[in-house]
Amino acid sequence: MATPTAIKASGLVKRYGDLVAVDSISFDVEKGESFGFLGPNGAGKTTTIRMLTGLSKPTAGKAELLGLDVGSNATRTKGFTGVVPEVSNLYDELTALENLLFMGKLYGVASTERHRRAEALLELFRLQEKRDRPFRTLSRGMKRALTIAAALIHNPKILFLDEPTVGLDVMAARSLRKVIKELHDQGMTIFLTTHYLEEADILCDHIAIIVKGRIVAIERPEKLKEMAIKEQAVEFTVSGDASTLVEPLAALTGFKPIIVNSSTLRCSGTTNRLLPHICRAVQDAGAEIVSVNTIRPTLEEAFVRITGLSPTVMATEKGGK
Ligand SMILES: Nc1ncnc2c1ncn2[C@@H]1O[C@H](COP(=O)(O)OP(=O)(O)O)[C@@H](O)[C@H]1O
Ligand SMILES: [Mg+2]
Repeated sequence: MATPTAIKASGLVKRYGDLVAVDSISFDVEKGESFGFLGPNGAGKTTTIRMLTGLSKPTAGKAELLGLDVGSNATRTKGFTGVVPEVSNLYDELTALENLLFMGKLYGVASTERHRRAEALLELFRLQEKRDRPFRTLSRGMKRALTIAAALIHNPKILFLDEPTVGLDVMAARSLRKVIKELHDQGMTIFLTTHYLEEADILCDHIAIIVKGRIVAIERPEKLKEMAIKEQAVEFTVSGDASTLVEPLAALTGFKPIIVNSSTLRCSGTTNRLLPHICRAVQDAGAEIVSVNTIRPTLEEAFVRITGLSPTVMATEKGGK
């Protein structure tokens, strides 16, 4: 038999009364893959994680982890998954080390092994110095790091992270991404949700874009970037009247340029492809190029185009613990 897919969602639906929070989503995550669920607040990301990890029963559809139906094998699937919720599940009064050991006990990790793992995780997350500090006294970044460490105490095969860097400062977010990347490099299967495009780009092999409970695209980040590159344009200004260049440029490039103003035109396409044509047309018209600008849409703009969402939707922050 072929090795089972790490995570398989088949027609997952979650309704809350009239609200369809997750609207029949299906996808596969292969072993060792890092898969990102990218979408704005309220898109259904947390609800999906909860169904995939057995914390919430789907209204319809099926979630499987390593070939096991989560609904009917909850104990077994919990044994090989780590879950990092949006809000930490650790205890304020326990120290960093005690929290790790307690979590290890909950997961049934034997005492010696649990101590060994806890030490290794404190080191991996650079928290050795904070080992004896109560959780509540740690900085926001350290709390998040320890919450991830705790989810790894039983050495899971699949790690679920719900918005791992939300509410963290740039440095803390960067160091957590580094650790997540290291875990991925070591072969762990990672499923993370985020509303940061950059984060999905850095960390994920595949990105599923989720909007209002539906997946609107599943692509590799490179593909998303390619889609953005296709939207490149070159804008140039000439001495004198640019409108005489519209027809010759349309003939050369196959696309009619847009008239920005009397001396400026915009052509769709990459600089490499367009520049020779522009130079030739301008020269033939006896004019001179005054300036050239490449308009390169960002990955964010590609995202906006795919989802039809305004960029401010994604920029909307929410506080995290
Ligand atoms: N327990 C619940 N009861 C009712 N509605 C819920 C519940 N949990 C989530 N929702 C709603 O489901 C939608 C998706 O929520 P959620 O999965 O938390 O989104 P995200 O994690 O992408 O921000 C939202 O409209 C949210 O208000
Ligand atoms: Mg959420």
